[in-house]
Amino acid sequence: MSNKVSESTLLAIAAAARARAYAPYSRFAVGAALLTAGGAVFAGANMENASYGLTVCAERVALWNARLAGHHRFSKLAVVADSSPPPAPCGACRQVILELAGDIEVVMGNLQGEIVRRSARELLPLPFTGDLLPGEAALPAAAAGDLWRLPLALRPIGRVRSSLTRPSEVPGRYKPLLSEIHLDPELEEGLYRIEEESRIIVIGYLHLAEDYVLKGERSGRGGEVYGVFACRTPYRPNPISMTEVDLVERRGHVLIVRGLDLIDGTPVLDLKTVIPPTGKQEAR
Ligand code: THU
Repeated sequence: MSNKVSESTLLAIAAAARARAYAPYSRFAVGAALLTAGGAVFAGANMENASYGLTVCAERVALWNARLAGHHRFSKLAVVADSSPPPAPCGACRQVILELAGDIEVVMGNLQGEIVRRSARELLPLPFTGDLLPGEAALPAAAAGDLWRLPLALRPIGRVRSSLTRPSEVPGRYKPLLSEIHLDPELEEGLYRIEEESRIIVIGYLHLAEDYVLKGERSGRGGEVYGVFACRTPYRPNPISMTEVDLVERRGHVLIVRGLDLIDGTPVLDLKTVIPPTGKQEAR
């Protein structure tokens, strides 16, 4: 099922992850993107330190990120830097890739589009493995009931194109403003027959909202104080928005919608149809 994410998308995700590198010492930013067997992607970027030897490469950050989210089966790792030839994983990363991900394909790319492909085993032909060690590996405590507390990883499916460019420009009340949702072209097939809908639900990720407040003034109610779950403030523990909009038109992977309260560039997490009302409202 991993063919759901193409190699070029995986490379694009790795290239995007480079922007999150912390590389003030080498000034060599590296991004990595690891594809799971089920089609999810986990990113990584190199994290340097003033104590140079503490630096961790992009590949290991991606691997640890994915393992921590519970993934064990992988199919491909993309690594991108601004270098020619493209960056090859360091020896330490080769060892970690092989142990945590197995003999996956490693795709190395650069910003000019050069690509080098090798299997993990080709990169590390004679690996040191834990099989040589005497003891049994320690297992983590059995299925912790608190796993629900772990953060979840979500993949945006597209983004908003709007004339609203700042959060302060978003109207507090409904405005029949037209905006566009540009779906990732790879997911276009998922829009099949969406034209039959006149209203759809757009779930967005409020990427500029960094913090949350549990209680605050609620706009549109005379500034009275409400809990975060009792209003629509963007400052939420999970900065997720949900808006029902008119679907005006579909042009390939682009949807034109009316009434969306999201600014230009907002990542879209999901699109859904509206549940039609079933006659009479049930008594409460
Ligand atoms: N680096 C990676 O992140 N991945 C590689 O494949 C090679 C090297 C990082 C480590 C360090 O932050 C910088 O690149 C220079 O070595």
